[in-house]
Amino acid sequence: MDFDQPMDRTGTSSLKWEWFKDRDVLPLWVADMDFAAPEAVTTALVRRSHHPVYGYTLPSDALYEGILGHMKRYFHWEVKREWVVFIPGVVTGFNIVARLVGEAESIAVPTPAYPPFLAAAKNAQREMVTVPLSVENGRIAINRTVLEAHLPLNTKLLMLCTPYNPGGTLLTREELSGIVDFCQERDILICSDEIHADLVMSETGRHIPTASLSPAASARTITLMAPSKTFNIPGLGCAMAIIENEALRTRFQDAMAGIVPYVNLMGYEGAMAAYIHGGPWLKEVITYLRANRDYAFGRLAAMAGLSPLLPEATYLIWMDARGLGVKDPAAFFEENGVGLSDGAHFGAPGWLRLNFACPRALLTEALDRMERAVP
Ligand SMILES: Cc1ncc(COP(=O)(O)O)c(C=O)c1O
Repeated sequence: MDFDQPMDRTGTSSLKWEWFKDRDVLPLWVADMDFAAPEAVTTALVRRSHHPVYGYTLPSDALYEGILGHMKRYFHWEVKREWVVFIPGVVTGFNIVARLVGEAESIAVPTPAYPPFLAAAKNAQREMVTVPLSVENGRIAINRTVLEAHLPLNTKLLMLCTPYNPGGTLLTREELSGIVDFCQERDILICSDEIHADLVMSETGRHIPTASLSPAASARTITLMAPSKTFNIPGLGCAMAIIENEALRTRFQDAMAGIVPYVNLMGYEGAMAAYIHGGPWLKEVITYLRANRDYAFGRLAAMAGLSPLLPEATYLIWMDARGLGVKDPAAFFEENGVGLSDGAHFGAPGWLRLNFACPRALLTEALDRMERAVP
């Protein structure tokens, strides 16, 4: 796969590119990649489209096998078929989980946060408690200590994002165990958004699914995963909640009933092809992304006024831009031809997020523009 190949997304109604339509702004914001998905995905979609009946569709045995095989191979996690509940998106998933919380209970959301996390409690008409995380040793630290310091006794749900977006922290076994033990002691349900699980940038690190830690962890965890970030197919709308605890799974399914649509047939088809045949593509894309990460991080770190964090996972660099001395760093770079995600939407004004999942030439042009713009 030639990831250096320029990818013209004109005419595809791409959210990332249409946002700055008709303006010379290079979009390095929303989290999708400017790379073609694995060829096997395209082949499967084309093949399926040749049958002209697009009727109600079930997840196939092959799809279940693909998912279970992926969890075992990449995470040494033995998932059973009946634990898997298909949903059209991970955001849908954590909004369903927020609806499992009682009226007098609160939902903990560590910040900075992927913006839809900040809306979930309000959507469910529940109280949100934010947990301000800080940077320790160059990474955003999420652990038992910070939860202990901020969670009131009525907190009954923790919105955990692992690997952490923004910032790209890959939680260690010790950090995760501490969080799970604390939730066990306080009887807190864990919603573990692991959408970035496959995108590990650190050469030595490994993603550990929260539920795979122990039977006790699995009993109180709803894991949200998807092939969308991993294989660059977010527009296909297929994700899953993995829930071992049967009573919890039933509550989740009850909260979905009549509201959440079934996954569409192309979503199932794409997910199946990706999980079964996408392994070699994934290996190659990670090699390419790791090189882009090191290149982008090096250049950003050398720019006056910017303090980037080196992501251990995700293809997103989170950086402190307060040193620039401009009022609105996102607007500043946009005026200078680069579209980044505004940290204010993540609860961190003055910070920015840069998506480096694009051909090197595009990344280089964007970094050149940023370099010329900084004082
Ligand atoms: C942490 C996290 N969760 C969820 C999503 C989106 O999930 P979906 O498109 O499946 O709703 C993203 C996308 O960037 C994300 O970063």
